[in-house]
This record gives sequence, C-alpha cells and structure tokens, in this order.
Amino acid sequence: MLKTLKFRTPQWVHFGFGTAGEVGPEAKRLGAGRVLVLSGPNVAASGTMDPIFDSLKEQKLDYAHFDQVEEEPTIPNFYEALKVAKEGDFEVFVGVGGGSSMDLTKMVAALMVNEGKLEDYWGIDMVPQRGRPSILVTTTAGTGAEATRISVFADKEAGTKKVISAWNILADVAIVDPGLTVTMPSKVTADTGMDAFIHALESYLAKGSNPITENMSVDAIERIAHNLGPAYADGANLEARYNVSLASLLAGITLNNSGVGVMHALSFPIGVELGLTHGPALTVIMEATMRSLSVAQPKKFKAVAEAFGVDTNGLDPWEASEAAVDAMVMLSESVGCPTTLSEVGADRARFPEWAEGAYANRRLLDNTCRNLSVEDIVEILEESL
Ligand SMILES: [Fe+2]
Repeated sequence: MLKTLKFRTPQWVHFGFGTAGEVGPEAKRLGAGRVLVLSGPNVAASGTMDPIFDSLKEQKLDYAHFDQVEEEPTIPNFYEALKVAKEGDFEVFVGVGGGSSMDLTKMVAALMVNEGKLEDYWGIDMVPQRGRPSILVTTTAGTGAEATRISVFADKEAGTKKVISAWNILADVAIVDPGLTVTMPSKVTADTGMDAFIHALESYLAKGSNPITENMSVDAIERIAHNLGPAYADGANLEARYNVSLASLLAGITLNNSGVGVMHALSFPIGVELGLTHGPALTVIMEATMRSLSVAQPKKFKAVAEAFGVDTNGLDPWEASEAAVDAMVMLSESVGCPTTLSEVGADRARFPEWAEGAYANRRLLDNTCRNLSVEDIVEILEESL
C-alpha cells in the first residue's frame, strides 16, 4: 500500500552505556536554572541515580529530588508532585524510573504551563500547549514510556486506569542507558521485556504500521528473541542488556507512531482483576490472539518466524505462521511468564464482560489487523484457557 506517513520521536534520543550522564548537559541546554528530578523511592535508594545527580552537579545546576512517585501513580500522588514543582518554580523536569515516574513527569511538566486540572486532559490530544522541558530516563527495558506521548494514572475511586495521549507531552529528551538496567531482578526483566516484545509485535501487525515502524519492529523482535533469555539468565550480561534496552526503545517508538491493538485492550481488565503486572497480563493471551490474527497478515508472521531464526524455506504461509507463534510462546515460557489464563486463575464467567470492554476500546480495536467481534474476542479468551 502506498501510505502517507508521519513519524515523531522526542527531539533528542540518547542510547547506550553511560548516557545517563547526559542529563546534566541536556538540562543545561534546555535552559535550566532549577531542575526537579522525579522518581520512586526504591530507585532513589538503590544508587542507580548517582550518575544523574553527578552530571547535574558537574553542570553546577541547582536541583531538587521528589522521590515519592508511586508504582502505579494515583491522581493524589500527581498533585503531591505538582505542588512541589510549583512551589519551587522548577524549569526542567527529569523523570527517572519505569513507566510510572516517566508518565507522571510528563504531566507535571505539562501542568506547569497548561491551565486546569489533570482530569481535564483524559483522552486524545486534550493538552493544548507543550509544557516545560522534560528529560525522561528509563531504568527498565520495556514500557517505552520515554518515547511515547502516553501517560497513565490509576483512578482508585473509579477502579480503573485513566489514559492521556497527547503529542504535546512527548518528552524533549529520552535517555536509555542499559547500565541502569543491570540490577533489575530477573522477574522484572522478563515482565518488562515481554511487554516490549508485544509493543513491537502489535505495532508491526497494526493497521497504523508504516515502512519506518515496520523495520524498527522487526529489528526489536529479533533483538528480544535472541537476548531476553540471556538477560533474564544473567543480569550482568551487558551485551544482552544492551540489545534488550535498544529493542525496548525501538518498540516504544513504534508503539508511539503505529499504536498497539487488541492484546493491550484485553490486558487492562485482566491485569486489574487478576492482580497481574502488565507483561504477564499480555502473555496469557498472546498465543490465542496471535493464532487468530495470523490469517490477516501471513507475510508478517513469516517475517516474525525468521526474526526468531526459523528457517522458513519450504514452509507454506500457515506453517510459517504456526512456527512464529510457537517461537513466541517458547520465549515467554523460557523467561517464566505465564502463557495461559488457566495458570493465573481466570474465571471464564468474566470473559463476556472483558470482551465487551475490549471491543469498546475502538482506538485499539480499529488499529488491530483483523476485524474482531465481541464473539471473536470471547473465543480468543476461551482458547487462552
Ligand atoms: Fe504495554
């Protein structure tokens, strides 16, 4: 198809060992007098952030540290951070951590300029102006949040997650330093790595994919296929960490530009109701979803099989698709992620409601390569048992 396309990333992306030290020079370039660094309490205590603070000191920048970002930030947690930001009238915002800290930082920077409340901005492109400059530094390899325009909050009162998707909250600078991921526990490595894999996979298959993102997606799939196991088995394997971090960044970029699909729509109720982290909430439905979608994109499934190293010579498109799905299930199993809904105690009585909820998420369902009815989605869930 002769598609037109647009493509956007943070203005600057730094990738590689030692790039956490770019925080200071970048903050200076962005005009900082005063810098507010935001993170969760654990990463702050671990020493992971030392190179960031050192680089700010080297540039003689005045900075403060808000270290109370929650794991799944709530709306009150956001206002706590915003109060600190406004009282100090900080000029540049540095979010350090997994998706939570980076997502919260995007909106704190935005609300330093935009009027109103956080709750005014739920939905798509509701943020009218860019905020104050932001630098996002990831300490995991999976969410891709450093490269996306998305910010997610837990709405405890409504018992749901609220999403802001707005081009005006895309960071000015994204920094991915694989050195910050070497202390990640193996379970977190697996969970976040499978999330990154599925960002690459879903955005590759998505209706919104384009030649730029398709190339990046396949590259990310290949890197994760060959490096997630080694990074899981030995966190100090620097080459594996490098490749998984790069794949996560690429997958964040493809997610941001081409979107994801039905698996992410289904993962929200599954994660909340079964108390699963995001990666396993996806891997439990991966096999059945991918078998269902393969009919729509046989050529792409063949490319996925090849990215895993499968010799597809002599295989017909159906055999190649089966091989691709088998390989991704083996990857998930090899890093200890669950691959069926039975393993995580799902109750099939909940399937119709989950399917209705996913079906209603038109942003994701309209981007999925196969048109799925509510009944089709129930079938995927049944097949996932
Ligand atoms: Fe995800």
